[in-house]
Amino acid sequence: MNPPERQDPQEPPAELRTEAVSLHLGDRRGGVQALDAVSLEVRPGARLGLVGESGSGKSTLLRVLAGLHRPDSGDVRFRGDSIVGRRPRELAELRANVALVLQDPRSSLDPRMNVGRTITEPLRSPVLRRARSREETSAQLSKVMDEVGLDPESAGRFPHEFSGGQRQRIAIARALITRPAVLLADEPVSALDVSVRAQILNLLLELVAARGLTMVFVSHDLAVVRHLCDEVAVMQEGRIVESGPLASVYRDPQHRVTRDLLAAIPTIRI
Ligand SMILES: Nc1ncnc2c1ncn2[C@@H]1O[C@H](COP(=O)(O)OP(=O)(O)OP(=O)(O)O)[C@@H](O)[C@H]1O
Ligand SMILES: [Mg+2]
Repeated sequence: MNPPERQDPQEPPAELRTEAVSLHLGDRRGGVQALDAVSLEVRPGARLGLVGESGSGKSTLLRVLAGLHRPDSGDVRFRGDSIVGRRPRELAELRANVALVLQDPRSSLDPRMNVGRTITEPLRSPVLRRARSREETSAQLSKVMDEVGLDPESAGRFPHEFSGGQRQRIAIARALITRPAVLLADEPVSALDVSVRAQILNLLLELVAARGLTMVFVSHDLAVVRHLCDEVAVMQEGRIVESGPLASVYRDPQHRVTRDLLAAIPTIRI
């Protein structure tokens, strides 16, 4: 059993937090310290941008927050409760609350499953399965498809019949069908055509506002993070080297990595 989190009773617990999380990936001889004593707090309603160079540990940290990687040491908490070492059934509950959207919808969607089944599949998990009529499921499906800008009439079609942007809408609908409190997004637009990126980013912003979601958004594009987020954490070699409110980090970056990432934002935007 983990001791309850010590905190100010006035303050709500963080939606998600890591405490000194370390994780080594790869085999004993080689491998890399993907996370090195990472402590991160995601408060309820935050829109946190997680930025850093390639290989700095952003995706690994997101997977730890989603309960997909177990850290070697340290703790991960959802609303104050530790999720480390939980049984599969409890982790399944966590996944319903903390949804993950990945970079490339081509590889995250099963080509043999039609869109309706793809989106409603998380509801069939043994943990979430309860007496739910076919009509109820189908109403939920239509509602979430409509919410992400997909025609509910197209539920019988297959992922390959959709464009990249539409496939990412399918992945987002699938993430939202369990009514999560937190949306974790790992570079959700970087595999998409430039022309549809803004549409998907704006959709994410709308959904976050409409559903009151907490969001952690991974990117190495600080222009995108400025558009979407209100807080930022900067990673380098498995550590968080700088974090805080977006406006102050952007105005007065303290770390070289942050300055380099900011310098990469094009100043002329057409
Ligand atoms: N399964 C794995 N086995 C061994 N090393 C891994 C594995 N997955 C990731 N790594 C290594 O862990 C480190 C962190 O990787 P991670 O994917 O979290 O970085 P990232 O910040 O998401 O990078 P990118 O911006 O390229 O997506 C990198 O050095 C990577 O090579
Ligand atoms: Mg990554």
